[in-house]
Amino acid sequence: MSDKCNSGQRRRKIALIGGGNIGGTLAYLSIVRELGDVVIFDVVEGLPQGKALDLSHAAPVLNSSVTITGTNDYKDLADADVCIVTAGLARKPGMSRDDLLSVNSKIMKSVAEGIRTYAPNSFVIVVSNPLDAMVTLCQRETGFPTERVVGMAGVLDSARYRAFLAEEIGVTPASINAFVLGGHGDDMVPVRSNTTVQGIPVSHFIQAERLTQIEDRVRKAGGEVVALLKTGSAFYSPATAAIEMAESYLKDQKKVLPCAAYLDGEYGIKGIYMGVPVIVGKGGVEKIIVAELTAEETAALNVSAGKVRELVDALPA
Ligand code: LAC
Repeated sequence: MSDKCNSGQRRRKIALIGGGNIGGTLAYLSIVRELGDVVIFDVVEGLPQGKALDLSHAAPVLNSSVTITGTNDYKDLADADVCIVTAGLARKPGMSRDDLLSVNSKIMKSVAEGIRTYAPNSFVIVVSNPLDAMVTLCQRETGFPTERVVGMAGVLDSARYRAFLAEEIGVTPASINAFVLGGHGDDMVPVRSNTTVQGIPVSHFIQAERLTQIEDRVRKAGGEVVALLKTGSAFYSPATAAIEMAESYLKDQKKVLPCAAYLDGEYGIKGIYMGVPVIVGKGGVEKIIVAELTAEETAALNVSAGKVRELVDALPA
């Protein structure tokens, strides 16, 4: 294994809980980037084993030395450094993420128990929907410190914002600096006031009215994919976003990433998980950054927080 994979003597281990489309893509990206040995867990017999076998035949061609295994047994999560949870149902056309609350809560409870038992020191990234409620439940059920349980949404939502802005302006998305905060629902908040093209405010390039249309599309982009796919939701982009978070943790990169983090008064919000800019490094969520927002953005963030709170209140005890 190349030393990209190593921390001291021990090989890093990434447990992917959920062997669906996001889980498979997470495994593939972990191999390509040599982040560590991969275990794919799923309750469906044969599915994680089949994906792992297939992926293990990509590794030689990619010149990657990580190992990939599939399992139906939580024991195989043993000593994972990172757990990425995608287990749960995905939306079907016409459904909102919130419609998944009841069924995915049951799944999350058993997943959290598996993680608590076998990977008690791991950094946990939750991707399952409804995201903000699921990450709250996962933290509660594992009892892990809040800085070690985080939700993936903001990196994805911000990537969507960046992609649409780049297309509109005709520049590479790499030149767009943008972030989307709040809950991972239709009330998420694209933060226009902090969005720049290589430091130049986005309003220099796009009129306010058109920006409003683009931001509306960002809010609904997950649903746009669901409506097109008909049989599932987005997976390449959610997986890529979650891997960026995992990598920042494993390599202590200290990237500033919008993530669903536990708020204890930051942005005037307390006691829930919601999307905010954070620093991700070896300590997990090392710091929440409180950015200056306009009055309008603050009001929108409060509306979004209210929606998240409603869902969290509806979680099973
Ligand atoms: C989406 C799902 C992953 O936004 O929540 O596509």
